[in-house]
Amino acid sequence: MLMDDVKEILISQEDITKRCKELGKQISSDYKDTIPVIIGLLKGSVPFMAELIKYIDIDCKLEFMDVTSYSGTESTGDVKIVKDLDSSINGLDVLIVEDIVDTGKTLKKVKELLYSKGARSVKVCSLLDKPDRRIIDIQAEYVGFVIPNEFVIGFGLDFNQKYRNLPFVGVLKEECYR
Ligand code: IMP
Ligand code: MG
Repeated sequence: MLMDDVKEILISQEDITKRCKELGKQISSDYKDTIPVIIGLLKGSVPFMAELIKYIDIDCKLEFMDVTSYSGTESTGDVKIVKDLDSSINGLDVLIVEDIVDTGKTLKKVKELLYSKGARSVKVCSLLDKPDRRIIDIQAEYVGFVIPNEFVIGFGLDFNQKYRNLPFVGVLKEECYR
C-alpha cells in the first residue's frame, strides 16, 4: 500500500478543497475583466488544477506544458521543455498552475519563456510554497499552503514518478528515498 510509505499527512484533502475554493474565488475576481489562459505544468499540477478550476467561475482557457528540472529529490537547475503549448498566448493574460515552488528555478525559466511568447501578464498559482529552499527571488501570486523544508508527496507531487495519486499532501518516510 502506498500509505505505508507516508510518515505524516501534512495537508488533508478537505483542507485542499477549502483552500481551492478561496483561491478560485480570488482568481475569478482578479481576472473578471479578461479571459485568462490557465497553464498547468505537467504532471504535478494536474490534481490541483482539476480541483482549483471547479471554483473559477469566469471564462478561461486551459493549456498544459511539461518541463523537467528534477531527478530524485534535487533540482538540476537545467529546465527542459518536454511538451510545449498547443496555442498562441500572444497578448493574453497567463496564470501558471504549479504544484510547488521550491528553489524557484523552474518558475523563473517558465515565466521568461511565456513572456518571450508574447504573454501580456504571467502570474503563478502554486499549491505549495517552500520558502526556506528558495534560490531565485520569485514569489507566486497565489499560494495554497506554505510548508516547512521537507520533501512532500501526494496530490500531484512525486518521488521518482510515484505517489502522485495520493489524495493528500504528506511527508515521505526516510527509508523510501533509497
Ligand atoms: P524548483 O525549480 O526547485 O522550484 O522546483 C520545482 C519543482 O520541483 C516542482 O514542480 C516539483 O516537481 C519539484 N519539487 C520540489 N520540491 C518538491 C517536494 O517536496 N516534493 C516533490 N516534488 C518537489
Ligand atoms: Mg515535479
